[in-house]
Amino acid sequence: MALVTPMLNLIIDTDPGVDDMVALLLAMAHPEALNLMAITTVAGNVTLEKTTRNACLIREWARRGDVPVYAGADRPLQRAPLYAEHVHGSEGLPEFAVHPPAEGAAAEPAVDYLVRTLGGAAPASITLAMLGPQTNLALALRRAPEIARALRQVVIMGGAWFNAGNVTPTAEFNLFADPHAAAEVLASDVPLVYIPLDVTHKVLTSHQRLEHIGALGTRASERVAAVVAPYIQHDIERYGLPGGPVHDANVIGWLLDPGLYEGIAASVEVTCEEGEDFGRSVLREEAMGAGSVTWLTGADSEGFFSLLEAALSRLP
Ligand code: RIB
Ligand code: CA
Repeated sequence: MALVTPMLNLIIDTDPGVDDMVALLLAMAHPEALNLMAITTVAGNVTLEKTTRNACLIREWARRGDVPVYAGADRPLQRAPLYAEHVHGSEGLPEFAVHPPAEGAAAEPAVDYLVRTLGGAAPASITLAMLGPQTNLALALRRAPEIARALRQVVIMGGAWFNAGNVTPTAEFNLFADPHAAAEVLASDVPLVYIPLDVTHKVLTSHQRLEHIGALGTRASERVAAVVAPYIQHDIERYGLPGGPVHDANVIGWLLDPGLYEGIAASVEVTCEEGEDFGRSVLREEAMGAGSVTWLTGADSEGFFSLLEAALSRLP
């Protein structure tokens, strides 16, 4: 597949996490299209210590030691920390014997890295992919609002509107885990693309698909098959679906081939008041089709898996 995207300067903010792992491998398999400047980590699926360790291990699997990892926020802005170990396993990478990575994270905190790097970058020159709670970006914007100028786009896995939530009936995990951060990012003038459950639940990985991936012949594809299998089983049993969504990988799929997806312009808010709608992404009905946020609603599932399988076949 001839990818038609221009070379993108990319920072990935992540809480690996099984689907984060798939997203990171997909991105690191495409150095010709994505100049992956850094990985920044945040607490989310598991603690910051574990998400940071896992990011370093996944970088090692892809043999991309050129990509620095910076550890970020270990807790949300205001609410109590929330984890998803029941989905991603106690270590964040089920079926993998985690161990200390050969090389750890850089000493500089992620928020310092974001402020320094974005603060010195040309206008609209860097894309930020956000695969977990948006705490790091919110903290960086609080410290230096002018960094928004450097962001070409912020592409966020999060939210749900036409699909039910996955933590409460209305809230998706990344927003529920830090709704105040999501609200502060929405209030900034950063160009936002949201990749919500509305679209990730249309790209489902089945066990049959995983068997095919596991037979692609690379260590990366074997690891993806082993680690993703228990992860998708959770959603297969919970929703009675034929497969499970690897949510975060769609962020990279969209960056590599936006033609695989479709969406609408929307005006989005996040509910931060305690109650049944806490952490809910709300699309203003009167602004449907307008608004500053691109909200993805559809995907070419087969096209995504072709992209993913080609990428995994390129990795070690
Ligand atoms: O709701 C799905 C999101 O929450 C994904 O980013 C997953 O990794 C978890 O962080
Ligand atoms: Ca994630």
